[in-house]
Amino acid sequence: MEAVILAGGSGTRLKPFTKIINKHLLPVGSNPMVYWPIKKLVQAGINEILIVTNQEDIESFRKLLGSGEELGVQLSYTIQEQKGRGIADALNCAKDFVGEKFVVLLGDNLFDDDLSPFIKDFKKGNDKAKVLLKEVSDPKRYGIAIIDENNHTIKSIIEKPINPDSRYCVTGIYFYDRHVFQLIDSLHPSNRGEFEITDLNNLYIQRNELNYNILKGWWLDAGTHDALFQANKHFFEGE
Ligand code: TTP
Repeated sequence: MEAVILAGGSGTRLKPFTKIINKHLLPVGSNPMVYWPIKKLVQAGINEILIVTNQEDIESFRKLLGSGEELGVQLSYTIQEQKGRGIADALNCAKDFVGEKFVVLLGDNLFDDDLSPFIKDFKKGNDKAKVLLKEVSDPKRYGIAIIDENNHTIKSIIEKPINPDSRYCVTGIYFYDRHVFQLIDSLHPSNRGEFEITDLNNLYIQRNELNYNILKGWWLDAGTHDALFQANKHFFEGE
């Protein structure tokens, strides 16, 4: 199974660093951020990874990671033509790379869980789409999933709820099959002009086809200064 790491975007919340450097190349512990999701995929036995990033950053990624040999993986690269056009748009760039089923990581999502069991389950099962959830103490800050525990599906995703009915936040770890590209084709840009991953996942919810698993260990979206500091603390303390 192949994997896709989305590493484009604008990184506005990490300015001024991101005026000159892609978010996923910023230091986290003793490595650039993007090393961590790659290492997690390698740990789970994935050996083909596509990195999707912006035109202006692709050379830096190539220079840093090359063929991927040092990390024990085969890396490919592709450009998201319109910077910041949305996560679903970035995912669409992987169409020619992936096979029947694949895993997608947002490059700024850092976590401790081993992905192997989730990957194994998705590979052998009949699920069409799956997201990983994480229980958080501050659900008002995230996209929150209301789950149906009986058939292991998500009933709805509510962005930054004022009165959260659940503590399960939708992380940037997704599993899809190739049908996802047909669904992306039917999306329209949101009010902020992006092809939203939540709109895509909502299409699966409407069909009762969005499954989930829950992460048990540490997880963080390192997209803000505070979170980047927390991520550094985690990896330095852990090393
Ligand atoms: P976000 O954090 O939602 O967006 P961003 O990276 O542009 O940051 P900010 O909101 O501070 O401006 O992106 C989540 C992940 O998805 C991140 O790892 C980058 C990736 N991404 C893309 O690859 N392409 C895109 O068009 C967007 C919006 C995000």
